[in-house]
Amino acid sequence: MNADTHDAGANTWRSLPAAQQPEYPDAEALRDVIADLESYPPLVFAGECDQLRDRLGAVARGEAFLLQGGDCAEAFDQVSADQIRNKLKTLLQMGAVLTYAAAVPVVKVGRIAGQYSKPRSKSTETRNGVTLPTYRGDSVNGFEFTEAARIPDPERLKQMYHASSSTLNLVRAFTTGGYADLRQVHAWNQDFVKSSPSGQRYEALAREIDNALNFMKACGADPAEFRTVEFFASHEALLLDYESALTRTDSRTGKLYDVSGHMVWIGERTRQLDGAHVEFASRISNPVGVKLGPTTKPEDALALIERLDPERTPGRLTFVARFGAGKVRDLLPELVEKVTASGARVAWVCDPMHGNTFEAASGHKTRRFDDVLDEVKGFFEVHKALGTHPGGIHVELTGDDVTECVGGGDEIFVDDLHQRYETACDPRLNRSQSLDLAFLVAEMYRG
Ligand code: PEP
Ligand code: CO
Repeated sequence: MNADTHDAGANTWRSLPAAQQPEYPDAEALRDVIADLESYPPLVFAGECDQLRDRLGAVARGEAFLLQGGDCAEAFDQVSADQIRNKLKTLLQMGAVLTYAAAVPVVKVGRIAGQYSKPRSKSTETRNGVTLPTYRGDSVNGFEFTEAARIPDPERLKQMYHASSSTLNLVRAFTTGGYADLRQVHAWNQDFVKSSPSGQRYEALAREIDNALNFMKACGADPAEFRTVEFFASHEALLLDYESALTRTDSRTGKLYDVSGHMVWIGERTRQLDGAHVEFASRISNPVGVKLGPTTKPEDALALIERLDPERTPGRLTFVARFGAGKVRDLLPELVEKVTASGARVAWVCDPMHGNTFEAASGHKTRRFDDVLDEVKGFFEVHKALGTHPGGIHVELTGDDVTECVGGGDEIFVDDLHQRYETACDPRLNRSQSLDLAFLVAEMYRG
């Protein structure tokens, strides 16, 4: 990987309409920031992106399951060891549940180390008669409702790089430095087990894993695979100035890779076929995802395949369906059917979060755990009926005991939402709800 080779191919998007980009007041300041970013070292390596593409190829072929999860929006003031460890621990626990209970290899990908930019449905926000630009994520402007905070500041793109870099550094240390060793399955649960039904259920499963490991050890098998975990980073490729500044030519192959993360995805609001985001994604060789909402026509999905995966490489393209519990059974079948009939081998993944958001009477944006579960169930039913592979889940979660989504085994009620409502954007599953979900998904997958 040659860190300072830039290719015009990373910037072809500039002549096309780019939705959801900030309006920076100072174009020169932005140019300076882009030049700085172009000089920074890559956050990930092209070879790692290829490895994830291979793993996702297994998902597309029906041989593995994708677990993709993390915050809706990461925040600069939450880049702490505790918060990162808690998120990772939650994903590792979910991964252990799915691997063991569903008996399938699980590809683990965080919405982490780069998930700082948010598409918004409205460009302004009004409070008590005052109207200001909307918050677009810490990479763009400040959450605080003041005029100064809401002005987009390109310096924040550099902060995003540094926040991503320190997060990824810690993630790499945790996942390869002993913490993710399968013999730690109990340790990941320690602070949790007594207080929650899902923690207790997990503890029982961890005991079974322990027994299996002890048995293998007694037989003389102690494979290195158990000591570290493969974990990848992903985020929405929303801010194209940032993503293209971090796009480099791989010296091995001459191909372009967006080295800001292993996998990037295009959101529901930026997947226009003639738009800048699809153009940018078509130029890079990372595995890419596209969110597909209820307005997606089969022709759109087929055209996206043509643009993003013309060579039909399993693992290159992941479709993340986010229809809503009430729509997935009606709208997903035609898409899956026509995509399959076209001969394309995409990975199908269910995002049961973004189609199930509503506003509680208290004014909190929330989601019902039962709706989340029902959408996953619908997704599995559709694939079962068509004989295709339900490839994974894409969820918004945190390792902290927040009260943002209602329901779950350790039930959170609408009246509890105010207690620990901390998200800067969408409501996340807390640790207990995330584990509940993993157990239920494992049952569905086995079924
Ligand atoms: C998200 O993943 O946070 C998001 C905004 O999703 P979507 O593009 O599907 O609405
Ligand atoms: Co979200």
